Amino acid sequence: MYQEIDLDKIDIHAEPPIEEPARQYYYMAKCREWVRGLERKNGRRPTAFTQTFGCQMNARDSEKLAGILRQVGYEMTDDENADFVIFNTCTVRDNANQRVYGRLGELKNRKKRNPAMKIALCGCMMQEPAVIEKLRASYRFVDLIFGTHNIFRFAELLCRSFEEQGMIVDIWEDTDQIVEDLPVERKYPFKSGINIMFGCNNFCSYCIVPYVRGRERSREPEDILREIRRLAAGGVVEVMLLGQNVNSYGKNLKEPITFAGLLREVEKIEGLERIRFMTSHPKDLSDELIQVMKESRKICRHLHLPLQSGSTRVLERMNRRYTKEQYLALAEKIRREIPDIAITTDIIVGFPGETMEDVEDTIDVIRRVRYDNAFTFIYSRRTGTPAASMPDQVPEEQVREGFDRVLKVVQDTAREQVARYQGQVAEVLVEEINEHEEGLLTGRMSNNTLVHFPGSPELIGRIVPVALDKCQGFYYMGRIMR
Ligand code: 5AD
Ligand code: SF4
Repeated sequence: MYQEIDLDKIDIHAEPPIEEPARQYYYMAKCREWVRGLERKNGRRPTAFTQTFGCQMNARDSEKLAGILRQVGYEMTDDENADFVIFNTCTVRDNANQRVYGRLGELKNRKKRNPAMKIALCGCMMQEPAVIEKLRASYRFVDLIFGTHNIFRFAELLCRSFEEQGMIVDIWEDTDQIVEDLPVERKYPFKSGINIMFGCNNFCSYCIVPYVRGRERSREPEDILREIRRLAAGGVVEVMLLGQNVNSYGKNLKEPITFAGLLREVEKIEGLERIRFMTSHPKDLSDELIQVMKESRKICRHLHLPLQSGSTRVLERMNRRYTKEQYLALAEKIRREIPDIAITTDIIVGFPGETMEDVEDTIDVIRRVRYDNAFTFIYSRRTGTPAASMPDQVPEEQVREGFDRVLKVVQDTAREQVARYQGQVAEVLVEEINEHEEGLLTGRMSNNTLVHFPGSPELIGRIVPVALDKCQGFYYMGRIMR
């Protein structure tokens, strides 16, 4: 396991090992020599900065990048004024791409002032050939570019960028490899994301994820459990199991296991208090999972269940493989079995061919399911997806109008839903010092609602009872009960 690997014992003059993760440790040892060289030259430790765009999966990947950067001797900072800057990009909607280009423009100026600075890009956006073309043509100051499939080779690529001049681009089309036991630097000492699977096989017609993250691959349950056991022993009380579609976890393993089966095993881990997971595809959500959630003491009372659209006609064109009625029946069943659950969702407005009548269907579902929160997105046309070439793209004004209507209903229902616990006492995991008001802490209820309350920072990482005095829209102001 990585904590036990001593980089000093690795002979960096020998041939690199073929096996992973030994190969990456070899390159870490080599990078460390380069970083030490920089330290001697500059009279200070070089700094590194990782910036994450997009989802929880990317956030977890960035922790892996940071783990390696620290291991090779960089000091991690949280601003762009660093010697090594890496952007872990997202491409699910076009505005994510635009933000990356914007930020790259700023980096270019920094690099002019500090030519020794290294700039790297990785993540989903790099899996798009058109992006790579653009970077090669107009962003020559970038030193290193790699994608989602070879992120486990970061140490090796970093080493190459020390040894070679010019832009290094290494993008893989796909991979079936899952490399275990590389270093990770966690953002929070008391909670952690855990990848349980990679990729997606669903091919929703608007979504670029299956093209940039590849086919579904599940980690072996033993690897997952070993990782969580180790984390729990080190003080982690909450884990978030991550996958694009956790409900199909385990189907492609040699010895298949269901997601509910995995949860049963995670539940048994001593010291672990809370289990979350993300994301569930409605078509694959089993009765077994509902049962396991219902019986569990540790699984949080929160389910993120992306709806995308409430119109059966649109759902069909989206290739979601459920109808409005099936979704409603599922949500009703979940609420019946687990009454205190919070259901949240993702909604897309402006999918090709969507009419105002379809938007009304979406609004109808929102009213009936009563989401605690919903992320509402304007449809973004992603090159290469089937929806991008559908003829009836919706005019911008109509999309705006639909979006505003959906958002209003979402906000009204969510406010009501969140407020239903006012006056009660909830178990809250204290997560951080409140950024906006001195003396306040911020924590999360099992159902994912945020609570702010006075308290001292030593409580961070603990689960405490908090009186939910006042609901302020989407969060509570509270007070710790003794
Ligand atoms: N346009 C807008 N939203 C999208 N999402 C995925 N692809 C697109 C797209 N092309 C949204 C979906 C998904 C969430 C992560 O992002 O709602 O659930
Ligand atoms: Fe995209 Fe659909 Fe897969 Fe989610 S389930 S990542 S929306 S293709």
